[in-house]
Amino acid sequence: MLTTIGNISAHVGEKVKLGVWLYNRRSSGKIQFLQLRDGTGMIQGVMVKSQVSPETWEQAADLTQESSLYIEGTVREDERSPSGFEMDVTGIEVIQTAEEYPIALKEHGVEFLMDHRHLWIRSPRQRSILRIRAEIIRAMQDWLNGEGFTLVDPPVLTPSSCEGTTNLFHTKYFDEDAYLTQSGQLYMEAAAMALGRVYSFGPTFRAEKSKTRRHLIEFWMIEPEMAFVDHEENLRIQERMVAHVVQHILQHCRDELKVLKRDTSALEKVKAPFPRITYDEAVHLLNREGMEFSWGEDFGAPHETKIAESFDKPVFITHYPTGTKAFYMKPDPERSEVVLCDDLIAPEGYGEVVGGSQRIDDPRLLEERFQQHQLSQEAYEWYMDLRKYGSVPHSGFGLGLERTVAWICGLDHVRETIPFPRMLNRLYP
Ligand code: 4AD
Ligand code: MG
Repeated sequence: MLTTIGNISAHVGEKVKLGVWLYNRRSSGKIQFLQLRDGTGMIQGVMVKSQVSPETWEQAADLTQESSLYIEGTVREDERSPSGFEMDVTGIEVIQTAEEYPIALKEHGVEFLMDHRHLWIRSPRQRSILRIRAEIIRAMQDWLNGEGFTLVDPPVLTPSSCEGTTNLFHTKYFDEDAYLTQSGQLYMEAAAMALGRVYSFGPTFRAEKSKTRRHLIEFWMIEPEMAFVDHEENLRIQERMVAHVVQHILQHCRDELKVLKRDTSALEKVKAPFPRITYDEAVHLLNREGMEFSWGEDFGAPHETKIAESFDKPVFITHYPTGTKAFYMKPDPERSEVVLCDDLIAPEGYGEVVGGSQRIDDPRLLEERFQQHQLSQEAYEWYMDLRKYGSVPHSGFGLGLERTVAWICGLDHVRETIPFPRMLNRLYP
């Protein structure tokens, strides 16, 4: 049976066998140092010439970067090594000697790395990001499951839009027109009327022609939806979930954060409650800071960054002008020109990571909105039904996974947050 580097600490003093790839090799003439990885971690294998057969020595000397092999040896604790352990190698069995590896251990340009994404993900940095991504997903789902939410899967192929019609991905569904989902929300509203508190987690698609550090064409969203929950409680659920995720990562991904050189002091402050400002207050803040911005516009990345700078935690911006937001958001009963919504803006310039709102529950108002937004009522008849048969106040939100990963990992660009990013001009590999 093979041991893994991930649980090598349980085998100190024992002879073990690992399945590995060679990351790097150095030799002093009498000793070869083999940097080995197996997906669970990295360990240095030390091979002493006088202690192995000449064939074994030669085989090791011929190993190229990313060659695959089985390796046997004794595990030893070593304070100087980054992993805390080393292996005294007694034998190797080469599986394949790799061809010259494109991603040699030197600097490469981003486009080159993106073209070799299928190999790039083997690097320690990319591996750490993917581990944290998986751990964020786990933390969100654990938290929601613990709070009594039920996982419900909405469809990916849909007959209508959720978030406006400008960035819909069109396809044919036999003879009908169909679209890849922009958000599972409308279906989750139906599910909330069946199960109370629900969430979905899946890929969503936006044919966005914008080429920014924050936009992907295909991204993953977690979308909780709750019956009998108003705007206020919606915010409390969001801040508790986000704080839980961040604290979970600080606790469980220390090694990965270290590989990424993430300054964790900013993350440690992410505890509920989060500060809140209204859209109106945000506009004042921007004007005070000398940025031109008039009421009714939507915030761009520089605005969000400027607003976030005033806070050391994620900040909720609430009550946006009705005209800037989607058709389904409930107007503030005290001020119908704004809606009961929130964007959660991450610190350090990472921008909007969550968008949420209380939904319209009045069938007449919803009908008006379909007309204003020029949406065909026919395609949404089922959605109208939710307001006819036992309509209740309800709210929900969507957390963009990739932006959350970028923020927690401290990355410049969302392209590194997903195994195979789909971006403007990139569908390969
Ligand atoms: O604010 P958005 O558009 O909200 C919705 O789709 C709602 N229907 C969600 C809901 O209430 N159930 O998107 C939610 C989040 C954003 O805050 C952002 O984090 C992420 O999804 N997002 C994107 N991430 C990467 N690339 C894009 N093109 C994104 N568009 C939105
Ligand atoms: Mg939004």
